[in-house]
Amino acid sequence: MKGDRRSRGPHRRQRPLYERKGSLYDLATALPERPVREAVIAMLAPAPGDRVLEVGCGPGRLAVGLAQAVGPRGRVDAVDRSPQMLRRAARRAARAGLGARVRFCLAEPPPLPYSAGEFDDVVMVFLLETLPAEDAELLPDECRRVLSSCGRLCAAAVSEHGGFGPAVVLYQRLHAAFPQFIDCRPICLRERFARSGFQTVQQRIMRLFGLGVEIVLARPAD
Ligand SMILES: C[S@@+](CC[C@H](N)C(=O)[O-])C[C@H]1O[C@@H](n2cnc3c(N)ncnc32)[C@H](O)[C@@H]1O
Repeated sequence: MKGDRRSRGPHRRQRPLYERKGSLYDLATALPERPVREAVIAMLAPAPGDRVLEVGCGPGRLAVGLAQAVGPRGRVDAVDRSPQMLRRAARRAARAGLGARVRFCLAEPPPLPYSAGEFDDVVMVFLLETLPAEDAELLPDECRRVLSSCGRLCAAAVSEHGGFGPAVVLYQRLHAAFPQFIDCRPICLRERFARSGFQTVQQRIMRLFGLGVEIVLARPAD
C-alpha cells in the first residue's frame, strides 16, 4: 500500500464518522447499494487486461468486482483516504483470491498519485458528492489526466435529479442535522464531467432510498 502524500490544510472538513467505522458502512451499504455497483460494472464492462483506477474505493466491494472483470492480465488500483476502509478492502480482495490483482493506495486526491495516461478506466462511486466543492471540480480534471486517450470515466453519485420529493426533503433535513453521517450534496454528474472536457456516452438514473442516483459513462471529448 502506498503511503499518504501530504496532510490537508485547515479548510478540510472533519471526516465523517462512517469513514472511521468502515465495518458499519460496509454492513449498511452491502445490499442497498448492490444494484448501483452492478449497474456501474455493467455500464463500464471493463475488458480483460484493462488497467482500472477506482477512487474512493471504501470497503472494496466494487474493486473486487472490477478485479474479477479485468482478469489475470488486468490490474485495479484502488485509492481511499481512510486507512480503516482500505484495510477492509484489502482483506476482501485477499479473501476473494484477488489480492495480487488489486493495489491499494492511501491518498486523498486531488491530485491523483499516478502518471498521465496510466489507466483505461477510472471509476468513482458515491464520492464526488461528498467532496468539498473545490475538490469536486478538480478531481474530474485529474481523472482525465490519468486516463489514456481513449479511456473512460464511469461514476455514480446521488443526483439533483430523479428523487422522490418527500425523500429528498427528508434527506436535506438529515444532512443539515447530521452532516457527520449524511455528508452528500446531490450533484449533476453529466454537467460536472462536461466542464472537465468529457462527453457522456451513457447515462442512467436509478433510485436509492427515494433519492435519484445518476450513473454516467463518459469519454474525453474529441
Ligand atoms: C460514501 S463512501 C463510498 C465508498 C465506495 N465507493 C462505495 O460505494 O461503497 C466515500 C469513500 O470515499 C473516501 N474518500 C472521501 N474523500 C476522499 C478523497 N478525497 N480521496 C480518496 N478517498 C476519499 C471515504 O473514505 C469513503 O471510503
